[in-house]
Amino acid sequence: MANSVIEIKNLKKSYELGGETIHALQDVSLQINMGDFISIIGPSGSGKSTFMNMIGCLDKPDSGKYLIDEKNVAKMNDNELAAIRNGKIGFIFQNFNLLNKLTALENVELPLIYRGLTGKERREKAIHCLQLVGLKERQHHLPTQLSGGQQQRVAIARALAGDPLILLADEPTGALDSKTSKEVLQLLKELNEKGHIIVLITHDLEVAKQAKRIMRIHDGQLFENGGDWLETTRIHQDGAKKYQK
Ligand SMILES: Nc1ncnc2c1ncn2[C@@H]1O[C@H](COP(=O)(O)OP(=O)(O)OP(=O)(O)O)[C@@H](O)[C@H]1O
Ligand SMILES: [Mg+2]
Repeated sequence: MANSVIEIKNLKKSYELGGETIHALQDVSLQINMGDFISIIGPSGSGKSTFMNMIGCLDKPDSGKYLIDEKNVAKMNDNELAAIRNGKIGFIFQNFNLLNKLTALENVELPLIYRGLTGKERREKAIHCLQLVGLKERQHHLPTQLSGGQQQRVAIARALAGDPLILLADEPTGALDSKTSKEVLQLLKELNEKGHIIVLITHDLEVAKQAKRIMRIHDGQLFENGGDWLETTRIHQDGAKKYQK
């Protein structure tokens, strides 16, 4: 299918720990298309980060099929995998993962060092990305001189520096207050409108609802949308509110 960017079929991943087998992902299938903004919601330990690591080619599944641009990830060598990670995918994490001794600008420039750009080109690209997230004026600030939301926006600029088609965000608002969360979500929406595919991992229903497609992960199994489930949750929340009154 021309529209399909990633196709995941019957993916499985388990961990062996102290003689016990943990089935982190059980038979997970998902097709990711151009224009998608997908949220994956699930409780702690449900397999969200494990799944993100698979989508991001940071880890390999035990079995199952993973195609990106119709190419089989299982057959790629380390160089090909690194090329996918650097060229197709931008990563955003809960704790920003910025280097505290580097300025915002230097943090955004860092992934560009391996791209054979001149220093001037790197700088221009980094400034452009900081401008996209509304932080051009703060380019010389250290992460400690920025608010949490601003730090996350620098991390998003860094993720954008490599012109990735796909942005993978693991709890990007997990460390932010609700107002700042909204700003970061708004930025992700805008990036989606500009053509980036967004995969947003969260345990927060309000955050998950901002996406166009909502997936639920539970005990390593993935369910699309689950309109019933969302409805049930809403009723429960309303019920809880009524109860509190
Ligand atoms: N390296 C590992 N070794 C052993 N078990 C692991 C490892 N990584 C994850 N697990 C287990 O796999 C399951 C899924 O973990 P995962 O990190 O994907 O959950 P999560 O949904 O991201 O949770 P959280 O919301 O707390 O981040 C959990 O039971 C976890 O304990
Ligand atoms: Mg996690």
